[in-house]
Amino acid sequence: MKILSVVGARPNYVKLVAVHDVFSRFFEHVVVDTGQHYDYEMNRVFFEQLEVPEPDYFLGVGSGSHGYQVGEIVKRVEEVLQRERPDFVVVYGDTNSTLGGALAAVKAGFRVGHVEAGLRSFDMSMPEEVNRRVVDHVSHLLFAPTGSAYRNLLAERVPGRVFVTGDVHVRALKRWLPIAEERSHVLERLGLDPGYVVVTLHRAENTDDPARLSKIVGLLVGLARRERVVFPVHPRIRKRLVDLGLWEGLSGSGIVLSEPLGYLDFLKLLSNSRLVVTDSGGVQREAYLLRKPVVVLRGVTEWVELVESGLALLVDVESGLDPERILDWRPSGYVEGLLGDEHAPEKIAEILKGYLESGNF
Ligand code: UD1
Ligand code: UDP
Repeated sequence: MKILSVVGARPNYVKLVAVHDVFSRFFEHVVVDTGQHYDYEMNRVFFEQLEVPEPDYFLGVGSGSHGYQVGEIVKRVEEVLQRERPDFVVVYGDTNSTLGGALAAVKAGFRVGHVEAGLRSFDMSMPEEVNRRVVDHVSHLLFAPTGSAYRNLLAERVPGRVFVTGDVHVRALKRWLPIAEERSHVLERLGLDPGYVVVTLHRAENTDDPARLSKIVGLLVGLARRERVVFPVHPRIRKRLVDLGLWEGLSGSGIVLSEPLGYLDFLKLLSNSRLVVTDSGGVQREAYLLRKPVVVLRGVTEWVELVESGLALLVDVESGLDPERILDWRPSGYVEGLLGDEHAPEKIAEILKGYLESGNF
């Protein structure tokens, strides 16, 4: 049986890393990289450091408007599908590569599975929300990471079959954290002692509005007045900061700014932090798994279990940003198992295999 995965952006690569060895035990696994992300730190580093083979196809789509990106991905993935004729196509998360991969597949008559189905912010102004909703409604198999994601899919009456599998990030982290602890020298390289604050930011809703972005810069400068702050900078926000003339203020504030980090360096950085401030979906879960307090700089999160358990604090940029409140916040305790266990990849592979063998489509 031949399975074809479509990936193309940093969070897609981490999920691919989580499932690849299991998928290749069960199936012939063909990997297509759309090239939505292409900088070394956003793409190559994951293949070079994490024992996943080179993608079978690199489509070189790159950056552009949503229409350009999704359109090119649909066209280029379709060509690969006609050549490879897989039994099933798998897409991951909520990026334009996820949407383009799923659309190319269903339009050309292939069956599709969505890893990380059912997450909702209920905010259709977010590009990711549009991507997830469309992908969930065209997918044949939906792999929900959490109970709330499962309930969202049932409430929307998606036509495909829905399963709760847990979050594949649990596997990636369990497997790679011990290796990261051993191999990564990121603390020495960045001149850090354990116990700092890690920041990551890249969401369009936080980066694209100049007023909002300058509020965020004010917050980061405020955090850095009290504690050591390290910020691996995603290319989207770097470009906005430079274009708006905000970069100088940030780099003069004592914040440790770095290029985006490889997964091993990033895990090591997180595991030695004392607090994480982020708008990333993946990073908020990794912070939880590493038992770090996490402040999510958004009005909503798709990972509602983390907030409901008091383990993540939502802070909406619109309603004011107080560095003291963020630094002084502490979760009340710890709740295990909110994202399932490390066997999500096996569960997904078993479901897929059973589905394909049954011939009952
Ligand atoms: C994308 C995803 C988002 C995900 C994020 C993870 C969509 C709509 N958004 O956002 O859901 O959370 O990836 O990181 O798919 N750029 C570079 N080098 C790169 C990649 C991007 O310089 O390797 C710059 C370009 O200026 C580009 C901008 O970043 O225009 C945005 O890239 P894009 O892929 O459109 O979206 P992300 O913001 O990365
Ligand atoms: N990540 C990384 N290096 C960094 C920042 C993040 O390897 O400098 C990893 C992180 O461990 C997580 C994934 O990238 O697994 C999350 O991707 P991102 O924040 O870009 O996207 P999102 O999850 O918000 O879609």
